[in-house]
Amino acid sequence: MLWGICAARLGAAGYGQLETPVFEDTELFARGVGESTDIVQKEMFSFEDMGGRSLTLRPEGTAPVCRAFVEHGMHKRPQPVRLWYWGPFFRHEAPQAGRFRQFTQAGCEVLGSDDPAVDAEVIGVLADILDEAGARDVRLRLSSLGTADTRRDYSEQLKSFLRAREDDLAPDVRERIDANPLRAFDSSDPGTQAVMKEAPTLLDRLADDDAEHFAEVRALLDAAGIEYEIDPALVRGLDYYTRTVFEFTSDALGAQSGVGGGGRYDGLVEQMGGPPTPAIGWAAGVERILLAAGGEEPSASGACVFVAVPKEERRAAGFVLLRRLLRERRSAVMGEPGRSMKGLMKHADRVGARWTVIVEEEGFALKEMASGDQRNIASEDELVEALGPGSEPW
Ligand code: HAM
Repeated sequence: MLWGICAARLGAAGYGQLETPVFEDTELFARGVGESTDIVQKEMFSFEDMGGRSLTLRPEGTAPVCRAFVEHGMHKRPQPVRLWYWGPFFRHEAPQAGRFRQFTQAGCEVLGSDDPAVDAEVIGVLADILDEAGARDVRLRLSSLGTADTRRDYSEQLKSFLRAREDDLAPDVRERIDANPLRAFDSSDPGTQAVMKEAPTLLDRLADDDAEHFAEVRALLDAAGIEYEIDPALVRGLDYYTRTVFEFTSDALGAQSGVGGGGRYDGLVEQMGGPPTPAIGWAAGVERILLAAGGEEPSASGACVFVAVPKEERRAAGFVLLRRLLRERRSAVMGEPGRSMKGLMKHADRVGARWTVIVEEEGFALKEMASGDQRNIASEDELVEALGPGSEPW
């Protein structure tokens, strides 16, 4: 069902589905995700193939999509290119509730535009998907990391600040002041958290055009009524981000509350050998969304036709009708022919049928499940007409 929600919503918004391989050259992730990130340093399942090449089970999907964009010359298509994906990802993390070594991500990427409307669009689509999936107590956190240059300057300021407070920091934070000072914002150590409350923030140091871009993204979200909180300490665990970053969390989950996140990565395509191509996207954890939805499947579409054939001899008539409905892209299910009427109606309820067609010895009976109204119909053509063109959910 969640796949269907993603496919319908992203498909309707102009995204084409792209599947990249489950493993790729280790180098792609090391360079793309960033050498100093947790993912590259300790979470990759890497192995050598028989030719001695180092391969890695994909820990994320953005670097592979950029590789495919460059390799297949997608910059020659009308820009921006909108893509989405769904599949297994792998990270060597300590498993716990909501955190798995193999998990499923649904994600999307828009490559070839730096317009703030694209930022607001991708955020809006994820908000809609989480909403339709029934994820509870969802909050959106938003920030901007500026460009690589701003980040570099800020990173130096932050390093000086952290060095001056070194004694109050957790050992792992202290060790990584030079490699990745931003991660100090992510620490769960109380001493470090106290220090970080006073740390300079990147949001206050954005260059004018980045600050303007961020203001425009916020204005669009406001105009669309999408609620968010600005979180200057929002740090994403991947190095490629520039400008807008965001994360959706669910208070219904425990420590692993991130149901989906993403941001801009305006330099990544170029870094992979492509032309300068600003881009933005997100990925959402499918298992976490289901947990946040309380394990309940979204309710059935209610548009299904149930074909009931109480007399086994009428199996062929039922089957021909089922084939016709399916060919016409109507959602239809046939019960086991020859079962009792009581059993068939129970089955119809279970699949959430809106109508049940009873295939009788002669003709049909059409029952509307909600009202219980039932009428006889002589021919298959009349029956299909009575169902109307709107009986399909897809
Ligand atoms: P990420 O924040 O690393 O971003 O992962 C996205 C989502 O995947 C998380 O919010 C979480 O729901 C889920 N997830 C991550 N690790 C695990 C795990 N071990 N077990 C279960 N779920 C997990 C990315 O991967 C970026 N590629 C997103 C992106 C796309 N940015 C731009 N475009």
